[in-house]
Amino acid sequence: MSAPIQLSHPLITPDQIRDRVHELGETISSEYADSPFPLSVIIVLKGACFFAVDLLRVLRLPTRVDFLQASSYIGMGSTGEVRLISDITMPIAGTDVLLVEDIVDTGLTASWLLRHLASHATRSVRLCTLLDKPAGRQVSVPVDYAGFTIPDEFVLGYGLDYDEGYRNLPAIYVARPV
Ligand code: IMP
Ligand code: MG
Repeated sequence: MSAPIQLSHPLITPDQIRDRVHELGETISSEYADSPFPLSVIIVLKGACFFAVDLLRVLRLPTRVDFLQASSYIGMGSTGEVRLISDITMPIAGTDVLLVEDIVDTGLTASWLLRHLASHATRSVRLCTLLDKPAGRQVSVPVDYAGFTIPDEFVLGYGLDYDEGYRNLPAIYVARPV
């Protein structure tokens, strides 16, 4: 059983998410417009898939999509260890890669995954995260595209979970222990 929590009023509303995802889609589409190959979009399961699907729908680019799953987080605190649960199966050598994350907190997961993807002899690897929580950073990570910079709070909704729950909420909320 997970400890009970209470949710704030929405920190980020569905309208704000939609507008920002649209802006990110425009920026990314124009920055890769001259790329000779389809953009390899790698989605980090499970949290980022809600954001990534909405982002993919507004990209005006040829893309190829794959998933991987990593784990570094239990409950409300990071364990500090990154474990690859499942890897990509699509070849990405020679292509431009966009890693899509739900949130960058300590930075351990994203920096590990960026190195992992770059080891496939990619043309480039960039990071797009829905949320950036810079106060939690333990290792520096180049965040190329961020939806929202948020304060040092535990958040959930729109893909982000608390012990696997709450992912389907359409807004993002701050969760606090009751
Ligand atoms: P990092 O390795 O500490 O940067 O954390 C990466 C992962 O921790 C994210 O992909 C999330 O799954 C999880 N995480 C970090 N902060 C939060 C949060 O505020 N709410 C929910 N999950 C979080
Ligand atoms: Mg999680």
